[in-house]
Amino acid sequence: MSGVEVPAGLKELLQGYTVEVLRREPPDLVEFAVQHFTRILEGQKKSRGAKKRGTRPTRKGVTFDALSNKPKQVDEEEEEDTVKSTASKYNRRVSVCAEAYDPDDEEDDEAEPRIVHPKTDVQRRRLQEACRDILLFKTLEQEQFSEVLDGMFEVLVKPQEHIIDQGADGDNFYVIEKGVYDIHVQKGGVSVCVGKYDNKGSFGELALMYNTPRAATIIATQEGALWGLDRATFHRLIVRNNAKKRRTYEAFIECVPLLKSLELSERMKLVDVVGARAFKDGERLITQGEDADCFYIVESGEVKITITSRTKAGPQDEVEVARCSRGQYFGELALVTNKPRAASVYAVGETRCLVIDIQAFERLLGPCMDIMKRNISQYEEQRAALFDSSVETPRDVLLK
Ligand code: CMP
Repeated sequence: MSGVEVPAGLKELLQGYTVEVLRREPPDLVEFAVQHFTRILEGQKKSRGAKKRGTRPTRKGVTFDALSNKPKQVDEEEEEDTVKSTASKYNRRVSVCAEAYDPDDEEDDEAEPRIVHPKTDVQRRRLQEACRDILLFKTLEQEQFSEVLDGMFEVLVKPQEHIIDQGADGDNFYVIEKGVYDIHVQKGGVSVCVGKYDNKGSFGELALMYNTPRAATIIATQEGALWGLDRATFHRLIVRNNAKKRRTYEAFIECVPLLKSLELSERMKLVDVVGARAFKDGERLITQGEDADCFYIVESGEVKITITSRTKAGPQDEVEVARCSRGQYFGELALVTNKPRAASVYAVGETRCLVIDIQAFERLLGPCMDIMKRNISQYEEQRAALFDSSVETPRDVLLK
């Protein structure tokens, strides 16, 4: 349409609405639109009011006593308003607030208080170690990651303690420092243990990302230590980063053949929880015989898959059996069969992969399971040419 100018901001407004629709899947699009745009309008009015009153939209800092978890009343800007913390595990939200979070709304971000829980050097080191492999943090800029670490607080837990109850409101996101935690999900009115976290990983992101009730119950089976991140800080840093992640990976995810059978909203949920990792030439991503907790999709570069076969005569040489490049996946076999890794995987040149943890794999890739199983049985042919029949193949493992 020549001569018609698209008003500034229209594209962003409609994009924001579309993204929210895809994420939340509301039953009534028109009603959801009214709510969505009313919230934006109210946010704009509020921030205009604040500007008129001369309030600088700078971030307020709230710090907390390292051990008591009480805010220390420190304010970066020495402003008079005190900000109440929502950061304690013991200060859980009591009602579901259907707050809209527009990840692209800078005003939202600036109005949020920055929460800092002071930590001793030892605590900070332990926290950094616990967060080293957390996928949700893998795509954060260094500055955002530091803010996440500042905002985290220690939670010590006792055996049988319910950290999260299915159906409750989401208050915090948790990173595991130590301890074993069972995952229970209600199925047909019965609580079923569907998995566990064993001394690593994180949980509690879903209710905060999608503003939904808790999807599972998480129970400590022994004494443990967790690091919590309050809902507001999680929104400000992780959900905002997810909007960027979606822009970065959406097109790529669309082209991954394995994921073609997923709905668009399912692919977006996958993007929300993936982490991106870079590997150097020759770096080992997977070690044959180890327990598995991740699934990989090659974003750029290449990996080679090797097998050290075991025969009655003992271990033999490591033999390359396949390569994967952009858009191809690996690491699914052990997750599907619940067995140790059947092969090792090494980067060939600089390589980047998207990484999906086992819980997200099981939750989100169910619709792709048939394709994966079919491909697993094709591995057979690749290897038949390389090994004699005394060697155990992935198909043997799958059929055991
Ligand atoms: P959330 O719903 O906020 O709280 C419960 C958490 O359990 C959930 O986020 C996930 O982090 C985690 N979880 C692990 N396995 C599952 C599963 N199979 N279904 C739902 N949630 C799960």
